[in-house]
Amino acid sequence: MRKEYKRGALDEESVTATPMAQFTIWFEEARAAGLIEANAMIVATVDALGAPSARTVLLKRFDEHGLVFFTNYESHKGRDLAVNPRVAALFYWGALERQVRFTGTAERLPAAESDEYFQSRPLGSQIGAVASPQSEVIPSREWLAEEFAAAERAAEVAGGVERPDHWGGYRIVPDRVEFWQGRSNRLHDRIQYRLEGGHWEIERLAP
Ligand SMILES: Cc1cc2nc3c(=O)[nH]c(=O)nc-3n(C[C@H](O)[C@H](O)[C@H](O)COP(=O)(O)O)c2cc1C
Repeated sequence: MRKEYKRGALDEESVTATPMAQFTIWFEEARAAGLIEANAMIVATVDALGAPSARTVLLKRFDEHGLVFFTNYESHKGRDLAVNPRVAALFYWGALERQVRFTGTAERLPAAESDEYFQSRPLGSQIGAVASPQSEVIPSREWLAEEFAAAERAAEVAGGVERPDHWGGYRIVPDRVEFWQGRSNRLHDRIQYRLEGGHWEIERLAP
């Protein structure tokens, strides 16, 4: 499984001045390349004792302020972020021989923004968010199906589903972002943006 990386190059002269602008270019290229779930990112958190955990979530939007994903605030990741908002996020786009790493701080989206996104989701996803106590141990698949059916009946009666308080968005506000492009002979390009006194330093890292 030894592979030579030859698809591209990256240099500190040609990257954009801010990491989110560079991310926009790479994200669009990942999308255009037809990658499956190019918006899937690994998010790593740490708990109160410093134990790390990582999981995949879907990037739902991004702008110059950072990356937004949605989840259950009472899940494992939600509990971690409540005690320690420091977070890392990673995209691996293998077909493009690229990786992007973010380090930063996660903040909850304003409730109105989470409401708006929740209401844009398909009804089944809304009901799932209500019915599933994410990351809790549950008795069985059947138990989950019953919870879903009960939430579905409640939604019918109410004529819709309100966003539960325990579900919503986080914005990862980055202070370090690294773009990795595979190159020949393991001399990969690694360009890092580091927030320093309110402005982005651009540096090259050894591969
Ligand atoms: C491709 C993919 C996309 C996922 N997207 C999300 C997501 O957007 N939000 C979410 O809460 N979980 C998502 N999950 C499930 C998480 O990986 C994880 O199982 C769940 O959030 C519970 O994680 P936690 O116990 O660490 O909190 C996704 C999983 C996969 C494989």
